[in-house]
Amino acid sequence: MTGSHSGGNADWQRRSLASVWHPCTQMQRAAVVPPLPIARAQGPWLYDYEGARYFDCNSSWWVNLFGHADPGITAAIKDQLDQLPHVMLAGCTHAPAVELAERLSARTSGVLGHAFYASDGASAVEIALKMSFHYWRNLGRGDKREFVCLQHGYHGETLGALSVTDVQVFRDAYDPLLLRSHQVMSPDARSALPGEDAAGVARRAAAELEQLLAQRHGQIAALIVEPLVQGAAGMAMYHPQYLELARELCDRYQVHLIADEIAVGCGRTGSFFACEQATIWPDFICLSKGITGGFLPLSIVLSRDAIYQAFLSDEVARGFLHSHSYTGNALACRAALAVLDRFDSEDLLAHNEHQARALDRALEPLRADPRLEHWRRCGMIWAFDVKPEFAGGRFAEQFHLAGRRHELLIRPIGRTVYLLPPYVLDEPLGRWLAQRLGATLEQALESPDADRTPQPSVA
Ligand SMILES: Cc1ncc(COP(=O)(O)O)c(C=O)c1O
Repeated sequence: MTGSHSGGNADWQRRSLASVWHPCTQMQRAAVVPPLPIARAQGPWLYDYEGARYFDCNSSWWVNLFGHADPGITAAIKDQLDQLPHVMLAGCTHAPAVELAERLSARTSGVLGHAFYASDGASAVEIALKMSFHYWRNLGRGDKREFVCLQHGYHGETLGALSVTDVQVFRDAYDPLLLRSHQVMSPDARSALPGEDAAGVARRAAAELEQLLAQRHGQIAALIVEPLVQGAAGMAMYHPQYLELARELCDRYQVHLIADEIAVGCGRTGSFFACEQATIWPDFICLSKGITGGFLPLSIVLSRDAIYQAFLSDEVARGFLHSHSYTGNALACRAALAVLDRFDSEDLLAHNEHQARALDRALEPLRADPRLEHWRRCGMIWAFDVKPEFAGGRFAEQFHLAGRRHELLIRPIGRTVYLLPPYVLDEPLGRWLAQRLGATLEQALESPDADRTPQPSVA
């Protein structure tokens, strides 16, 4: 017996608050916004312990691709469970890890030839940073130990990843513990000057990057970016030209380019890898979240062959001596293979674009709302900002709570409302979603207890 499963919603909420320390949560506030108790999930729907349903507007923190309980992924995991749930990957190997590495490399046309496995996004970022530094060290250039990241970028919350994250609320408390990094201008298209378009912002941001690289390239190991969309910044979207220019600059100044595709990979922006839209390949790709369709934790760092080669030596310490116990977990790799099977057997990207246009049409009336600004979409990510004069300090919380009353699980970031749904929309669902979003917005903005104290933004 593993405990009682007979409780209703209130019972699970009470027990959760008494025993679980929830992530990214000020637990004192959890009494006002108690965790939503979820008993089961199917497709885009989450169901609580009393049968109420919620549309998963953010794909459960951006991990779910094809809806919950997808039968293909479920079957693959069950099959793997009967053969080999897990074996250590140092000194052993197995078919799911090998096939996944081969198939991901093939998706880069072989440019990024080796896959290093870990479990979460932040651990993939740690690996890419360490590999970059160690590569230069192996080449006798150990003074290249600084990293560059974009303003408002987010790469995870372990100490290394946090060092290249520029989201104050996550970073400030730990600042004394972090590596020093350089933050350069974000190419966020919302920061366009009068008369400037998104490509112009990209060029201006790249010019700032160039200044830094020209001065300090001897000390800089890598630039890390979230390609096309800076998620935790509030779905800040930017022109692909920035990636092209960043690639050129990194080549010119001998600095690695790390593409953190943890949130934007797996078709989310309209191409399998977001970098494909700039027709560039980075030196490292970090992948996680959607790669298992939202079933199991897995992350992967793909690297170019020249990087891999620089670690080969008779000397053990020149190798990459990094590991996590569940590295290359066989169940997670099988889930990821089932995800790739779907991309290989269906034209998912075209299907998504078709779905996305239908949702665009359904959202059209809301776009005319004068209280909103900066409507934007990249692939299967939609976002808009509520103008500051209409959004109270606790806007995100009010909106989230109003969403619950309209069958939506939705968590704005500050005053940015976004949709990042599983790839299962159709026209009726799109119309329903747009209608519920509008009703939620009305309720959130009319809320009499809207507190005007500014609050930090969390995802
Ligand atoms: C771009 C990006 N990088 C890294 C991470 C960290 O991933 P994880 O939460 O799995 O550690 C996230 C998580 O949201 C992310 O969006």
